Amino acid sequence: MTVHPPKNINIVPFVSVDNMMKLVLSIGIETFLSELAGFIEEDFRRWELFDKTPRVASHSAEGVIELMPTSDGEIYGFKYVNGHPKNTRTGLQTVTGIGMLSNVENGYPVLLSEMTILTALRTAATSALAAKYLAPEGADCMAIIGNGAQAEFQAMAFKSLLNVTRLRLYDIDPAATDKCARNLEGQGFDISRCTSAEAAVEGAHIITTVTADKQYATILTDNMVGSGIHINAVGGDCPGKTELHPDILLRSDIFVEYPPQTRIEGEIQQLSKDHPVTELWRVISGELAGRRDAGQTTLFDSVGFATEDFSALRYIRSKLPGTVYFDQLDMLADPDDPRDLFGMLRRAKDVA
Ligand SMILES: NC(=O)c1ccc[n+]([C@@H]2O[C@H](COP(=O)([O-])OP(=O)(O)OC[C@H]3O[C@@H](n4cnc5c(N)ncnc54)[C@H](O)[C@@H]3O)[C@@H](O)[C@H]2O)c1
Repeated sequence: MTVHPPKNINIVPFVSVDNMMKLVLSIGIETFLSELAGFIEEDFRRWELFDKTPRVASHSAEGVIELMPTSDGEIYGFKYVNGHPKNTRTGLQTVTGIGMLSNVENGYPVLLSEMTILTALRTAATSALAAKYLAPEGADCMAIIGNGAQAEFQAMAFKSLLNVTRLRLYDIDPAATDKCARNLEGQGFDISRCTSAEAAVEGAHIITTVTADKQYATILTDNMVGSGIHINAVGGDCPGKTELHPDILLRSDIFVEYPPQTRIEGEIQQLSKDHPVTELWRVISGELAGRRDAGQTTLFDSVGFATEDFSALRYIRSKLPGTVYFDQLDMLADPDDPRDLFGMLRRAKDVA
């Protein structure tokens, strides 16, 4: 008996930038971030199921291009992403991305999506999710150092998941801070624009560093970080690209996504290879403690891991049915007779 594959298996749903924006706005940014954080949390809870590997990075003098694959055994996913800190000087984004999900059983892609906006959302959702377990109780004031493309997403995720409503913004470029403050107007924040990183961290319970510079930068020095603070270090995510002075790391409890990748790319690249760190999934699954007391300095050394992109694509896929926020992409050559690929090509002449 001939087994027929599902109809239209050659057609892959594609979420363009335009449709991603419409989808996010139709759901509502805060709802989207909290639902997305739920998917990321769920996948951290089934961490051991996933195929894991540090991302495959191709470095150049100006930046990095990376592939981030993973699979839960049923669905395979990967993201293509770049990081080019000098891009904004020529009007380009520092980070852009696209991603795909496939069916493990037959290898056929089932979703293709823009991931520039989705990366900003998933990075912010992951940061806020980590902070849910690590930030001091009642934290409602956050410093954001680096007010570029990712900054507002971080603010919105922390509001959505932790009810952070007071923001202290700083960027070496005041125009970036102006842009950030303007974009967050009317979103329920009390916003202070600060003229230095030192001023920004004053009174903050959470410090987010989200700068872009391809060097060992020192955005925070040890004396700037009081005890009990939670640091969400997002911008140090490449070999030779960090944001924190090593002394801060030495007195913080450090939480990471996937140690083999973070030891190459994160703040902890500045420490010995065996410096103790806690895997975030073990905290989320309840195996290990997150924040234990009010005096502890906690650090989420975020670099971005493939499972978070997988979760984000899985979330998007779950939201598409019944909406108009995707295109049908004729992406896979799928002849009726699977061995007649050449025949399909020849016959195309008759319809051309
Ligand atoms: N951890 C993750 O999962 C993850 C995900 C996405 C992006 N990132 C990283 O986050 C960083 C920010 O990304 P983006 O898209 O917002 O970049 P961006 O270029 O749009 O913004 C970066 C901002 O940092 C500011 N800046 C640079 N040096 C500074 C300093 N010393 N003090 C204060 N501000 C400074 C710049 O003026 C700019 O406004 C990048 O390094 C990127 O690689 C990490």
